[in-house]
Amino acid sequence: MDKLRIEGGTPLNGEVHVSGAKNAALPLLCAGLLTAEPLTLTNVPQLNDVRTMRTLLTQMGVAIEASDGRVALDAARVDWPLAPYELVKTMRASILALGPLLARCGEARVSLPGGCAIGLRPVDQHVKGLAAMGAEIDLEHGYISAKGRLRGAKFVFDMVTVTGTENLLMAASLADGTTVLENAAREPEVVDLARCLTAMGARITGAGTDRIVVEGVPELHAATHAIMPDRIETGTYLVAAAASGGRVAVRGGDADSLDSVLTKLVEAGATITIDGDVIVVERSGTLRAVSVRTAPHPGFPTDMQAQFMALAARAEGTAVITETIFENRMMHVQELVRLGADIEVEGGTALVRGVAKLTGAHVMATDLRASACLVIAGLVAQGETVIDRIYHLDRGYERIEDKLSGLSARIARVR
Ligand code: EPU
Repeated sequence: MDKLRIEGGTPLNGEVHVSGAKNAALPLLCAGLLTAEPLTLTNVPQLNDVRTMRTLLTQMGVAIEASDGRVALDAARVDWPLAPYELVKTMRASILALGPLLARCGEARVSLPGGCAIGLRPVDQHVKGLAAMGAEIDLEHGYISAKGRLRGAKFVFDMVTVTGTENLLMAASLADGTTVLENAAREPEVVDLARCLTAMGARITGAGTDRIVVEGVPELHAATHAIMPDRIETGTYLVAAAASGGRVAVRGGDADSLDSVLTKLVEAGATITIDGDVIVVERSGTLRAVSVRTAPHPGFPTDMQAQFMALAARAEGTAVITETIFENRMMHVQELVRLGADIEVEGGTALVRGVAKLTGAHVMATDLRASACLVIAGLVAQGETVIDRIYHLDRGYERIEDKLSGLSARIARVR
């Protein structure tokens, strides 16, 4: 199993190019199911989760051609509207196929994802929303079986759910009549999906607000769409640069999607300069601990919580870090403690007392963003850190060791 070996303690310097967003790419690949004409996506990140989604779509009968960040999907035929347990258990985002399959084929069978490392993560809102649109749904043998012609409906989400909003948005695009989604997720990835669907002929207003209105159309057509830059990958490099000191330019980013993260970096003592799609972070003075509380967009993203904990671990002062979205997203804490961090956890809140020095150790990655946290901690720790189970990292960060080496980090993938 691959590991990362990091020799920490040196500041990051240089320029890094950000990839397309994983969490935009996954729903956008499923959007290909909505039309019999080709959908071409560009700026597609080369990640394991994207490969899994391509495998899933191929099994359904979608023809896919991929080269250099460009993926052309041809769903002229969808022979098997089925997402089997074997794939769904490796990637929960497979649930995003449910809405498009049902809307396009009039039937779908998608495995229930089950629990995951960071929390229970039920999909009841996806199911309730489709039922409100007239789908007949059975939950049996671990599968969601849905059928029927979808019609527009008003649906109020019980809580803000990103993939839940995306699933219903795609389904509503081909439903009969108008759908109103209330308490919808406002994440930039939802907006990117709406932009692509609109290019395919969907009629959508309000994406980016908590009320999205979709006027269904009988069919969607061919389109080409460039996937938005990954705001979490961008944020991860910015935090790594601020935590280690030095100066890093992140190229190809979108600062507007990162307001809450940039504000916190400035609070932590970093200087941020934005010039078009280039975000420059610089930190030479004291690194200050900053408190964060995760919330749906535009609040502080849960996907950046672990990285800020690594920063706080080595900063001056005490940070209170509160996770409100997932009930079990603090698994990096015990690993940070192995590197010398002083952290106490009670419920969803961590009290992080900054220490003068972290020291390298052997640690284990437990989920994607926890892995990113350990990489940042390894970069600031004195001596060697070895991170085990980095398959988590390969799901969501494209060539992270190459990109960090380009910033003069001493990092290598080892077996
Ligand atoms: N929830 C329910 N019922 C539902 C749906 C969600 O109770 O039907 C709960 C969840 O258990 C959670 C909260 O609502 O407590 C929010 O979950 P959400 O549905 O928004 O999460 P998601 O759509 O499954 C996406 C990202 C995650 C990111 C979250 C929150 C994708 C593919 N995944 O997950 O990304 O953390 O939104 O922003 O878009 C990651 O990239 O590392 C990652 C985990």
